[in-house]
Amino acid sequence: MRYDSDLSFVFNNPTRVIYGAGSVSEAAMEADRLGMGRVLVVSDRVLKERTDLVDRVCGVLGGRVAAVFLDVPSDSGVEAVEAGYAAGREAGADGVVSVGGGSVLDTAKGVCLLLREGGRLRDYEGFQNLTRKVAPHVAIPTTAGTGSEVTYVAVIKDHEAGRKLLFGDYHLTPDSAILDPGMTVGLPAHLTAATGMDALSHAIEAMHSLQREPIADALATHAIRLLREAIPLCVREPENLAARGQQLVAACMAGAAFSNAQVGLVHAMAHTVGARFGVHHGLANSICLPPVVRFNASSCGRVYRDVAHAFGVALVDDPEALGRELARALRDFAASMGLPASLRAVGVPRDALPDLAEATLYDGALVYNGRPVGDASEILPVWEEAWSGVP
Ligand SMILES: [Fe+2]
Repeated sequence: MRYDSDLSFVFNNPTRVIYGAGSVSEAAMEADRLGMGRVLVVSDRVLKERTDLVDRVCGVLGGRVAAVFLDVPSDSGVEAVEAGYAAGREAGADGVVSVGGGSVLDTAKGVCLLLREGGRLRDYEGFQNLTRKVAPHVAIPTTAGTGSEVTYVAVIKDHEAGRKLLFGDYHLTPDSAILDPGMTVGLPAHLTAATGMDALSHAIEAMHSLQREPIADALATHAIRLLREAIPLCVREPENLAARGQQLVAACMAGAAFSNAQVGLVHAMAHTVGARFGVHHGLANSICLPPVVRFNASSCGRVYRDVAHAFGVALVDDPEALGRELARALRDFAASMGLPASLRAVGVPRDALPDLAEATLYDGALVYNGRPVGDASEILPVWEEAWSGVP
């Protein structure tokens, strides 16, 4: 049997997913369906200045646009959410359309929360603290990785405290996700690869989670198959709409999987090194994924057979050997797209590793890791391996 007799779970996926080249034109109908009269568009300055994506969405929404908020940094924080909320409140906004990557979408979730509840964002940190749905939200991703358009979490940096705050609540999940491959064709190769590795990490983490279950597993295994084909193709052929669409829908499926099954040690490490050293989230996941797979192998042998099968890795009986092979294949996959293989290569100092290992214990994602972790000394070797990039 693939699952134990005491399996129990709740699968929740309330987001309406609209997929297709040109589907951004559905944004107005979705806004109307959700009763938005005055829309706050949330995006960032880079997208506004270097692409026509924000203008395209505003053009579709027409007179519904009450204000456009663009002050979302790449590593968004509490201040950005509260400034977005102030802009929305001043404009009388009753809903949000977000256009961007994970940082923009997560910021928009925070803005929707404050538009409904008011107050300060930090007051809502944690899990299942809300009693009602936040303001309506149509999410339009321009990267194919975070899956934030269908997840119940927002990760927002607290720059004062130097850590990432987690907000997790079903009421935060966007109402609609518009997946238009055309919105991602302009993404540079290194970001296409890094965000794709984030999606791949979501799929694998959902499967090696203590909370894994069959519906999330089904979404995750198919996402792994699709991502394995699509990410390298998108890197080689950025204008390939079919490949862009495949990466986009796979990232969405992986998002729905982990929004239910949760993530684990890879994300706990990525959140930690992202908060301390600003390492890009997808890149941090890409670097941490192989050592975590090796670390988890003794506890996750059954799961890694499914992952290896989906990722095209030959099966071997010994779980540790399978973990090594899978880790090697993941490392080679990332390297083939030009991504750095170690934390050393992205400027993390070696003497920070003990502190990073200690801080990892305080990240909520660790709770669900398939191999339970009780002490920083257990995961220091995983950090060492991520730092050197050599198993
Ligand atoms: Fe992630």
